[in-house]
Amino acid sequence: MKVLIIGTGYVGMNTGVVLAYLGNQVTCLDVNEEKIAMLRQGKSPVYEPHLEETLQLVMNKIQFTSSYTEADIPNTDVVFITVGTPSLPDGNADLRYVRQAAESIAENLGEKFTVVVNKSTVPIGSGNWVEAIMHEHFNSNHDGQKADFNVVSSPEFLAQGSAMHDSFYPDRIVVGSQCERSVERLQELFSPILRQDFPAPPGLPRPEGLTEVPLLVCDLTSAEMIKYAANAFLALKISYVNEIGRLANKVGADIQAVSKGIGLDKRIGNRFLSAGLGWGGSCFGKDTAALVATARDYRLEMPIIESARAINYGQRVLAVDLLQEKLKILKGKHVALLGFSFKPNTDDLRDAPSIDISKLLIQRGALVRAHDPVALTNARSHYGDIGVVFCNEVGEALKDAEAIMLVTEWPEYRELDWESIPRVPIVDGRNFLDRERLEGLGFPVIGIGR
Ligand code: UGA
Repeated sequence: MKVLIIGTGYVGMNTGVVLAYLGNQVTCLDVNEEKIAMLRQGKSPVYEPHLEETLQLVMNKIQFTSSYTEADIPNTDVVFITVGTPSLPDGNADLRYVRQAAESIAENLGEKFTVVVNKSTVPIGSGNWVEAIMHEHFNSNHDGQKADFNVVSSPEFLAQGSAMHDSFYPDRIVVGSQCERSVERLQELFSPILRQDFPAPPGLPRPEGLTEVPLLVCDLTSAEMIKYAANAFLALKISYVNEIGRLANKVGADIQAVSKGIGLDKRIGNRFLSAGLGWGGSCFGKDTAALVATARDYRLEMPIIESARAINYGQRVLAVDLLQEKLKILKGKHVALLGFSFKPNTDDLRDAPSIDISKLLIQRGALVRAHDPVALTNARSHYGDIGVVFCNEVGEALKDAEAIMLVTEWPEYRELDWESIPRVPIVDGRNFLDRERLEGLGFPVIGIGR
């Protein structure tokens, strides 16, 4: 099929590259010309394992443009809207890029039936809003003609760091539409993923036993809600384990053991039960805030989700408090932060715990040096002014450190030459380091919830 992707962020790039790999003719459009220039050279603007390699494999099936005319909407079968929906200060999602995309698609529609898929995470009800905007714009640009398109919601469930894997081998595909033609077209487009009959791309082997992926077809509003409800539930799991972890810390239990014990119950499941600094990233914070804001529009409260948010952001303060308790005085102390990205395998710093932690430490008088294997360029350009010294080498960050805080569980931090590092207190913000070994070497190790 001929597919157009509008917006080349994580979701857009992954969708585009995967659909091109599956044999479709894909155009990716972005208003950011710098990004388009990079992509034309086969370079990914974001750090995401396997994305660039797979992009380079499909360069003959994918093209990049900033022009809607070049994007050739009249001959396109499916248009995906994958633009950003950042948070506004009141928690609502900022939909200006969605609106711009909707208007531009409508202006450029041809006579052929076009399926428009909302893949950006948009507030519940936005599908109808996009459809209304499109009709309005179509009518003002196409005298007397009748628009032939349908807006569908098909939310994305990929996680950064494993985005390519999640796109080729998803747990499910959700299609929200009551239009039969749209559902059929998307079923056909996604059929290689649903049937898992494509050759696995290099470096991305198919999980053992995966022979098909379920397709859930439902109404548009339910599809939009599934996305928020799924993210909020994952966020709740993390805050739940962190709340239990706070009590574990008081009573002398070990949250690692407790998580394992509850996760073995198949009804609960063992994933997203790792206690620590809590969630960061572009999704959980934004989506939980948006869900609460939507509920507020209906004069409804969401106390469970609001508590999960409070617990989450409290974990960042807790980690600094734990360090302060150990050092007694933070003023003038050198603290080394290991990791700055919100999770490993990404250079994304959106809502990263490292930022709040750095600010808190600096506020309390500490001198902060931070290392990250891939996020330093982003860190310097977005957070160059918060007072953190960013170090290219981990040794530089550790030099003269009087305390260490592990913020992101990059595997290489486990493999550091710990024997050669002075025995200063370590706050292991992700309960990730080999605690027994480090304690054996003489490091005081403070975990979270242990
Ligand atoms: C999340 C969801 O996992 C995806 O399914 C969803 O599609 C995506 O949001 C989105 O809406 O776009 P992502 O934010 O990339 O993906 O990363 P996660 O792996 O979910 O991690 C989020 C945060 O939770 C990270 O900071 C991670 O360190 C933290 N986390 C995760 C924990 O603190 N404990 C855990 O047990 C798991």
